[in-house]
Amino acid sequence: MAVPPSPLRFELLRGAALAPWLDQAARLRIAVFREWPYLYDGDEAYERHYLATYAESPGAALIAAIAPGDQVVGISTCQPMTEAAAPVRAPFEAHGLDPRRFCYFGESVLLPEWRGHGAGVRFFQEREAHARDTLGLDYAAFCAVLRDPDDPRRPKDYAPLDGFWRRRGYTPYPDLRCVLSWREIGQAEETPHELSFWIKPLTEGVPLP
Ligand SMILES: CC(C)(COP(=O)(O)OP(=O)(O)OC[C@H]1O[C@@H](n2cnc3c(N)ncnc32)[C@H](O)[C@@H]1OP(=O)(O)O)[C@@H](O)C(=O)NCCC(=O)NCCS
Repeated sequence: MAVPPSPLRFELLRGAALAPWLDQAARLRIAVFREWPYLYDGDEAYERHYLATYAESPGAALIAAIAPGDQVVGISTCQPMTEAAAPVRAPFEAHGLDPRRFCYFGESVLLPEWRGHGAGVRFFQEREAHARDTLGLDYAAFCAVLRDPDDPRRPKDYAPLDGFWRRRGYTPYPDLRCVLSWREIGQAEETPHELSFWIKPLTEGVPLP
């Protein structure tokens, strides 16, 4: 049976073109990252500031998935590793990996009711094309939060994304880690969270680092 065409449209936004979408993107990140495994208790002012850094990053791109009526239902970001925040860049430098060869994929968030129709695949395709063809970079890298599999807050029906990422061609680097802090639901203060990286060469013939 043929797959019906998705009603979503995708826009790749850079620089000042991001501004009109920042409020919707901030609300979306807060809604999706409240879920396991992030449990992030986000605030809109911080989110707008965080997302605005992509508007100021010359090589960055934000892919917006937009439903009819101009509602942003998903976003995904990327930027040259050289323009990424210091805690993200640091482990690459510490492991002798040249940040100038990497594109950092920041996040993919999609409202649950729009999942399973190819938007997540499209987010990877758009970002990889931007990294390879527009920025001329050799590798894509993103990080995923590490959680105790026995954490009682993990929903019984949670499906890890590891298989989805492997099928997109990414390889886990469990020892390449960064630490990012955020406030979890129910906590008074931010706490540090460990994330480990996944990497994919973007051009045939480029070996895994
Ligand atoms: C990660 C996330 C964006 C994935 O979104 P998604 O749109 O459900 O993903 P897709 O529909 O593209 O892919 C899911 C599966 O459906 C398949 N699929 C369904 N319809 C498809 C279509 N029309 N075209 C291509 N693939 C399709 C994909 O191939 C994939 O299967 P596979 O892994 O066996 O190849 C979404 O799950 C999410 O927002 N999760 C919460 C936030 C999060 O954890 N983000 C990641 C870290 S920041």
